Amino acid sequence: MIKVAVLGYGTVGSGVVEVIQDNNDLICQRIGSEIEVKYILDLRDFPGDKNEHLVVHDVKTIMEDPEIDIVCETMGGAGAAYEFTKQALTAGKSVCTSNKELVEKYGPELLALARKNNCNYQFEASVGGGIPIIRPMNTSLAPECIESIKGILNGTTNYILTKMAAEGAAYEDVLKQAQDLGYAELNPEADVEGHDAGRKIAILASLMTGKTVRYEDIHLEGITGIDAVDFAFAKALNKSIKLIARADRASDGSLTAFVAPHMLGADHPLGRVDDVFNAVFVTGNMLGDIMFYGKGAGKLATASAVVSDVIELARAKMAGYALPCIWAEDKVALKPYDEIKGCFLIRVKEDEAGRLAGAVSGISEAAKVSGYVGYKIEGISEKALKEALASTGLQAKIIRME
Ligand code: HSE
Repeated sequence: MIKVAVLGYGTVGSGVVEVIQDNNDLICQRIGSEIEVKYILDLRDFPGDKNEHLVVHDVKTIMEDPEIDIVCETMGGAGAAYEFTKQALTAGKSVCTSNKELVEKYGPELLALARKNNCNYQFEASVGGGIPIIRPMNTSLAPECIESIKGILNGTTNYILTKMAAEGAAYEDVLKQAQDLGYAELNPEADVEGHDAGRKIAILASLMTGKTVRYEDIHLEGITGIDAVDFAFAKALNKSIKLIARADRASDGSLTAFVAPHMLGADHPLGRVDDVFNAVFVTGNMLGDIMFYGKGAGKLATASAVVSDVIELARAKMAGYALPCIWAEDKVALKPYDEIKGCFLIRVKEDEAGRLAGAVSGISEAAKVSGYVGYKIEGISEKALKEALASTGLQAKIIRME
């Protein structure tokens, strides 16, 4: 019998218990052993909940119980969750988590601690909610030199952008809907300012390189600067606006990573990823392009990914092996994001269009919308483009295009 403790009985934690209990027969079959949730750690009581008898308030109960094989950390944050994870791993209990903040900050340390104590640390649900991406990065994509990863990695912002584009919905109303559906972070700034996507691309870029890409080094632009005119341009150009988190390896081996809104054509696979769905578009040097798609947030989707780790951890424990993950502490120095060349839409007021056309070369008119003219420019870095625009003194707005 495999016995599991779940730390935190919030949206994801309660989902983990539900998945383990409701799909118990097939999970047991796939592990080759019975499995049950023995404890749920939470500060609160849950009177009337069918699992209220499993709730404990003292983490020692879990750490000191030799019957507990696997701990699911679904508390969030990098405070108590970090301490409890270390305690569990030190006690030889394998841990899995949905906590991207913790994984981004302490991933290599916790992986090393797990190895030292003959147990495992897994974090499938920390990126892309229910999408399998961490395990494929560590296994199926192991033969590849990964050249780039571009992802819609935040369900809340994708939900907001989709509703605003399709229904002209007001930002505040859609954010509230995303919160009610359990998609948003406690502090929604983490979603809308790009921090959540930044942590997730830091984790993926670390697995891509086998070293540590720090979230603090990643340039973040969220969706709060996107307005109705941007959506009008996107519609006129048959494009959609998506918050893209990306890591690109240049031919000299240097890496850039950043998060920013992009206009994507209807023919781009990420351009059709709507609502709470996330997708990760990976390019490998042998495989070429591959895309992973699924629900990026929400209780049962995320819980399913956590339980996929539980199953892996249980199998690894019974067979006595270490699960693969190469992620060293050495830090990757990122190349400045604004030095890589790309394609942009520049928007200026119609009466200023002549001045722009005279001052910036290589632009071509893409559309006229709501009193603005949009120009496309390709093969230029954001830095060079901003310098050229600054010399015009125009109030121009730019957005990346793919
Ligand atoms: N707030 C996150 C999102 C939850 O919207 O994607 C999943 O990490």
